[in-house]
Amino acid sequence: MKKEKDNELMQKIVSLCKRRGFIFPACEIYGGFANAYSYGPYGTELKNNIKKLWWQMFVQEPEEMVGIDGPIILHPKLWEASGHTEGFNDALVDCKECKMRFRADHLIEEATGKGLEGKLEEMTKVLKEEKVKCPNCGKSNWTDARFVNMMFHTEMNSYEGTVYLRPETAGAIFVEYKNIIDSIHPKLPFGIGQIGKAFRNEIVARNFIFRIREFEQMEIEYFIDPEVKWESMFMEWLEKQEKFAMAVGAKKDDLRRREHPKEKLSHYSKKTIDIEYNFPFGFGELFGLAHRGDFDLTQHSKFSNTKLDYLDPTTGKKFVPHVIEPTFGLDRTILVALLAAYNEEKVEDEERVVMKFPLEISPIKIAIFPLLKNKPQLVEKAKEVYNKLKGQYMCEFDDNGNIGKRYRRQDEIGTPFCVTVDFDTIEKDETVTVRDRDSMKQERIKIGDLMEYFKTKFNC
Ligand code: GAP
Repeated sequence: MKKEKDNELMQKIVSLCKRRGFIFPACEIYGGFANAYSYGPYGTELKNNIKKLWWQMFVQEPEEMVGIDGPIILHPKLWEASGHTEGFNDALVDCKECKMRFRADHLIEEATGKGLEGKLEEMTKVLKEEKVKCPNCGKSNWTDARFVNMMFHTEMNSYEGTVYLRPETAGAIFVEYKNIIDSIHPKLPFGIGQIGKAFRNEIVARNFIFRIREFEQMEIEYFIDPEVKWESMFMEWLEKQEKFAMAVGAKKDDLRRREHPKEKLSHYSKKTIDIEYNFPFGFGELFGLAHRGDFDLTQHSKFSNTKLDYLDPTTGKKFVPHVIEPTFGLDRTILVALLAAYNEEKVEDEERVVMKFPLEISPIKIAIFPLLKNKPQLVEKAKEVYNKLKGQYMCEFDDNGNIGKRYRRQDEIGTPFCVTVDFDTIEKDETVTVRDRDSMKQERIKIGDLMEYFKTKFNC
């Protein structure tokens, strides 16, 4: 029963996203393509607001942070050094009956509850011995499981050989570590943050924007002295990541920490914890936090033949810093913001759907309406108010349908305030009605006081 309700919620979100211009299936006129999605006008605003919030929390405010913006196609040697060329693999299996392709470990986990990620032979054995059924055709006739590399590759006119679309943004940060040291001279601990596209040739893209092939990450490499006590720093990062999830709307109860068991950690990692969210399809990874030791800098130093030491200006000691890496999936954050904001409410005899986004991330901050579309004086005044506010806030002018319909549409896109220009505005006192999305309360504010009013509401 709960599962049905959860699936229903996911369907409602997908449908609202398309209907209201948040997120569309990409290339729909060509029948769609590869389960990819485009962000529409409101989705783009939401995405930009979330990026802005992240940048403010993790780059702008902390004194020891800087930001960069590196290329998507990087030197292919970088991916040899990081281990991606050799080991960034997922296991694939084909149904011999209907030819559908699946990610073997996910298929097995869903059918048997066994977690066999990375164990190719065992996966093949379980698929056959336990007669795991194909979710598409119901038969059980599988190929052997085999590894495929998840990196997209392409060619470059100026380079002989294969080049890759970056599978994570982190690589672009590590290769600029030396330039940051040489140009900014930061003291340890310091961090480099970046927001950008990453590409993974996922075997199956699914669950809307949860698992896609082209997505965005917001990542930080935080460089620390290897001798410093890192445990408390690590936990502070974890708390900051959870705070960020809650700032986009996630409820604390929907978040959980999942520590990777020691035996599953890479040899260089001291600790890895995923922050998972209670998605309608079950708990899934939202963010990750890993202590990566000196693995990355040491590897890049070896493969590039370049010293990547840090010279401590106070002690004169030279060493390779260790790294704590907080990583955030942007598209998954957007999915969380959408799921957490979704509310259905009964108002008198009507139902309303309202997206209660936190104010900072609402795509449109204020909608401005003339009470009637066919009264030029009302329209002119409403345009005047719109022009006044739009320089400071993302605003929308709306004169379609009646006021009730406009409120319903603005509720569905999560606009916190609607301003209506009516006859009292032009005939009496230059006041407008301001309606609050969440309480639906209305108050009359003088046009001349609107800017100050919204400054207090939005805190900017
Ligand atoms: N540099 C570390 C790293 O890339 P990861 O756990 O592989 O770690 C980080 O990825 C985050 O990127 C994940 O927590 C998730 O939010 C997001 N992510 C990974 N694969 C994704 C996909 N196919 N679609 C959408 N988001 C994805």
